[in-house]
Amino acid sequence: MPAETFTADQKQSLLRDGYVIVRGAAPPEQVARARDRIQAALPKDERRLLVPAGLATHEDTVGLLNDTCLADILRNEMGPYPPIVSAQVAVTPPYDDLDGAPAPHVDGSWSGKIPTDPDEIDLATTRPKDAARYFGPDDDVRGTNDGQLWLDPDRTISIGSYTALVGVALNDQTEPGNGQFGVLKGMHEAVEAVFRRQRDAGSVIGPEGLGWPRIKISASGRPYMNGLPDAVREAAHCAAEQAPPIAGWPWRWVTPVLLDAGDAVIALHSCPHTPTPNLGPNPRMNVYFRVRRLREGNPHEGTRRLGHGVSDHPDRGYFGQFLDYPPDYDPWATSVAKLCDHWSEWDGMRELVASG
Ligand SMILES: [Fe+2]
Repeated sequence: MPAETFTADQKQSLLRDGYVIVRGAAPPEQVARARDRIQAALPKDERRLLVPAGLATHEDTVGLLNDTCLADILRNEMGPYPPIVSAQVAVTPPYDDLDGAPAPHVDGSWSGKIPTDPDEIDLATTRPKDAARYFGPDDDVRGTNDGQLWLDPDRTISIGSYTALVGVALNDQTEPGNGQFGVLKGMHEAVEAVFRRQRDAGSVIGPEGLGWPRIKISASGRPYMNGLPDAVREAAHCAAEQAPPIAGWPWRWVTPVLLDAGDAVIALHSCPHTPTPNLGPNPRMNVYFRVRRLREGNPHEGTRRLGHGVSDHPDRGYFGQFLDYPPDYDPWATSVAKLCDHWSEWDGMRELVASG
């Protein structure tokens, strides 16, 4: 009988690590159906396996959450949520180094083209000196990841948010180095602490806010989009020094989530994560869902244009559209409150969190 809730051990894992594994979440026939459909839709002659958009909303894809025990587990442990209508299909080809080391990040910020010359970065604002060239005249260029530079019209929030990232594996990823979903284990609380500090200081929430440069310069002198607050990066590297090395896994500060086909991972939004290189020999195939707990009073809950399931910025339309909100519902204040108290969105964790 499929699980409907977390076990006591799974609750402890989620609390401690910021993520938890659900073994055998999707039955083999459902996994095979989704895998075959994705496989058939992939272009055969390109190195980057771009997945056709139609797959994101196909019932065989979204069914990996909607028609499995994951739906019940989320409803019971997180709470009610609007219908999931889309997913992210993520395929990493075999022998793909992803152009370098893993880059853990907190979901929800803008990602896109930035200057390659460090002299073109304003180190005070952590933005390009010629910002309009990259971000648009009004900071209105949508990121290549469909993210926005600013979420709210007043530009006080630079990060979108949701409650749970759910990943379902469609192939065997039990050996480290097969393109696993990687996490900064246990760093979710450090991320929440940064959001609280930013809020308490009256700072921007997210990149460009207190302790979180938007663009940094690498040791080799190249600017990069910075997916992590400085304090979280430092804490993660410190923690990694205590962690035992993993054979076949050179990225010590990142923990590989070892999944077999049909297994799932559920991570808090605040748990930093990253794709990792696939050293081969098989394509790494995962389907991800970004799920946000229902927000009472929000008139847009359940609207298809939010792209619930794939969007990491559901206070705006998926394509960045501003939505009209009634005077008695403030989506921006609500999201900041949730970022600063991530367990408030997990009904089933309430007792354990309170006892800790
Ligand atoms: Fe991500």
